[in-house]
Amino acid sequence: MYRIKSTEGWEPEKVYAYIKELIMSQLLEEDDRIANLSNISAILYTCLRDVNWVGFYLSGREQLILGPFQGLPACNRIRVGEGVCGDAIAKRCSILVDDVESYPGHIACDSASKSELVLPLIAGDQVFGVLDLDSPIPARFDEIDRLELEEILFHITPHLFSGSSE
Ligand code: SME
Repeated sequence: MYRIKSTEGWEPEKVYAYIKELIMSQLLEEDDRIANLSNISAILYTCLRDVNWVGFYLSGREQLILGPFQGLPACNRIRVGEGVCGDAIAKRCSILVDDVESYPGHIACDSASKSELVLPLIAGDQVFGVLDLDSPIPARFDEIDRLELEEILFHITPHLFSGSSE
């Protein structure tokens, strides 16, 4: 069972070191993809301050399909090239949005969301989906968040998507 410490008041580097520790122990303990994505979304949602939605959209045919997440119910499917998530897949790069209202084509799942960070899940030449984080605070995410999360995803994506999810 998880005993998550409160990260209130911690420096971002300490928060991400703790997140990495929790994610590594999750992956050592479990190899089921859905279980891992579910607990990774819960670890991020619990440890990061000021987030109202954290979760995965997974690649389907020409579209993304909602995966494990924490937060309010969200749109089920997003076409490649649509919204921040669809753009991150099409461009195969992370997208940091300080003000969602100024992002052309932004898809509003939760009207409380004001800023967003979307990162693709890439391993080799394949893109398996995205990690999406929303905040009710404008410009909540910065380059530290982007780089730390990119590093985490770089290490865990091959493990998460190797073989079947059985
Ligand atoms: N805002 C996203 C849609 C997903 S929700 O934020 C959970 C987008 O524009 O792709």
